[in-house]
Amino acid sequence: MEIRVFDSADEAARAVADRVARALAERPSVVLGLPTGRTPVAAYAELRRRHAAGDVDFSRATTFNLDEFAGVHPSHAGSFRTYMERHLFGGVNIRRDRIHVLDGAAPDLDAECERYEDAIAAAGGIDLLLLGIGANGHLGFNEPAAELAARTHRVRLAESTRRDNAALFGGDPACVPREALSMGMGTILKASTLVLLATGERKARCIERAVRGPLTTHLPASFLQVHRSVELYLDRAAAVLL
Ligand code: PGA
Repeated sequence: MEIRVFDSADEAARAVADRVARALAERPSVVLGLPTGRTPVAAYAELRRRHAAGDVDFSRATTFNLDEFAGVHPSHAGSFRTYMERHLFGGVNIRRDRIHVLDGAAPDLDAECERYEDAIAAAGGIDLLLLGIGANGHLGFNEPAAELAARTHRVRLAESTRRDNAALFGGDPACVPREALSMGMGTILKASTLVLLATGERKARCIERAVRGPLTTHLPASFLQVHRSVELYLDRAAAVLL
């Protein structure tokens, strides 16, 4: 695991934007996996800025988002699809037909998960998967549990995760869907390179456990330890226990 610690959250975000820009420059047809949440907002803003300056070209890239709420239409203000439009897709030249986000409003959610796995395979797999981490150690929406699913699947969200996402649903955790769709741990671990960005002291404990703790389904991020190519981008606050 390569661990990089930056003085501030902004510096860490800029470094992740650099990492994505480098991947695009080295391989314009790169297949990216993308997270949502508060943490990547600054990195996406930096990528939009660089695209506007003519420095980053997404025209041949393909993207797959990690997860989406179930029962939420892509056009809903709280959907991750809407988030991605606002923070990245609307500000860069990604081709619409190369954007992949799970459809939480699909009539058959299990079939939607299968379709997504097939689409990732058809794209040749994910080259660079950006990740956030939940304070409970989740990756995507793979929540701590006695068992973890390998493939893209339906998940029941932890109450803490519903609270963390309340801002997307008018500030009321009760309005956050109880279920979501998420890439599985196997889907995540099959990506060639994993780049995880974590900032703030709220993430310090789960980062410490992910890096140093035992492998356990009760901390999905601990499975990063078995991957061959993991890069952690942390600010000082998130790295304070390492
Ligand atoms: P956050 O979410 O960036 O809003 O903390 C991260 C995650 O839950 O993966």
